[in-house]
Amino acid sequence: EKGGYEHFMFKEIMEQPKAVRDTLSPRIKNGRVVFENLSLTEEYVRSLNRILIVACGSSYHVGMNAKYIMEKLLRKPVEVVLASEFRYCDPIVDESSLVIVISQSGETADTLAALREAKRRGARTLAVVNVVGSSIAKEANDVIYTWAGPEIAVATTKAYSTQLVILYLITLRFGELLGTIAPEEYDAIVAELQRIPSKIEEILEHREKIQYYASIYFNNSSIFFIGRNLDYAICMEGSLKLKEISYIHSEAYAAGELKHGTISLIEDGTLVVAMANHGRLFDKMVSNIKEVKARGADVLGLTGAKHARALEQVADNVISIPETHEILMPSLAVIPLQLFSYYVALQRGCDIDKPRNLAKSVTVE
Ligand code: M6R
Repeated sequence: EKGGYEHFMFKEIMEQPKAVRDTLSPRIKNGRVVFENLSLTEEYVRSLNRILIVACGSSYHVGMNAKYIMEKLLRKPVEVVLASEFRYCDPIVDESSLVIVISQSGETADTLAALREAKRRGARTLAVVNVVGSSIAKEANDVIYTWAGPEIAVATTKAYSTQLVILYLITLRFGELLGTIAPEEYDAIVAELQRIPSKIEEILEHREKIQYYASIYFNNSSIFFIGRNLDYAICMEGSLKLKEISYIHSEAYAAGELKHGTISLIEDGTLVVAMANHGRLFDKMVSNIKEVKARGADVLGLTGAKHARALEQVADNVISIPETHEILMPSLAVIPLQLFSYYVALQRGCDIDKPRNLAKSVTVE
């Protein structure tokens, strides 16, 4: 049942090229994004004042990525709210808001309650769900399925990757309706999106290097993930994945925020995982790496192939991933972080598929 692997988590990490391909391919026809059975019209999308994304845990992190992507490509305000907060914050939501809820299980109690609250306030709801026929899928006005297949491990991997892909597709479709994405850029993103599964495969093939880094760092008691923009959103996911299954304390920080407090926690040998996937922000990341190095940190950098050499000048170790369109980098950058968490937890002898105190589907408040 684990496909010959020791853990479901590893099996699911390895299934990502297929899961992403299965989620993507039925929605791209002749180079255009098509969602069958989706009732959102051009008039409706144009009338939207804002988009809210509501979710928990890793699904919330997908929302964090989507905020950067949608605001950049759609020029509409996007707010990402934790479902457990949304319910009790008297949210500003009405007919002019679209509420996107993201959930692998489709049964998360807080997300379901937030969906009901959004509907009660008159918003249209669009659910991105993995489990067909789940409560959230049934109650939302529209549903788009991630075709990840059953996810068993508590720590999500393939569901996260497929959710991300759906959010890219929604953005492209809305961008086309709104006219905010230039045709050449639209074509470039679609073309690159179709190359994501094979690029994920490439990263998975080179996993020994990540396993090696895990063997160096698995004894650290505290790990920091730093990055800017989309890299910051990926840091949040990398940090959650690590603490969830390896029980190592970790934090995700927007790299520019370090000097406002967190840098005081950096001491000799603290591991800082530095994400540097944005060409235009690369120099800023180099400065942040120098700041933490000067306080004794050990830096594991992650960047696209083009910048690997430059990053090696400042970081102790570097993971290089294939290049892609800048906004699609999260789909690739998250993979080494999943593998890193997995191998660290393996080295520490943790119960990877069923981490202590956690359930796969959180159906209580
Ligand atoms: O099923 P959902 O996507 O609604 O679940 C939300 C979170 O409970 C979930 O993403 C959780 O954070 C994962 N265990 C993270 O790996």
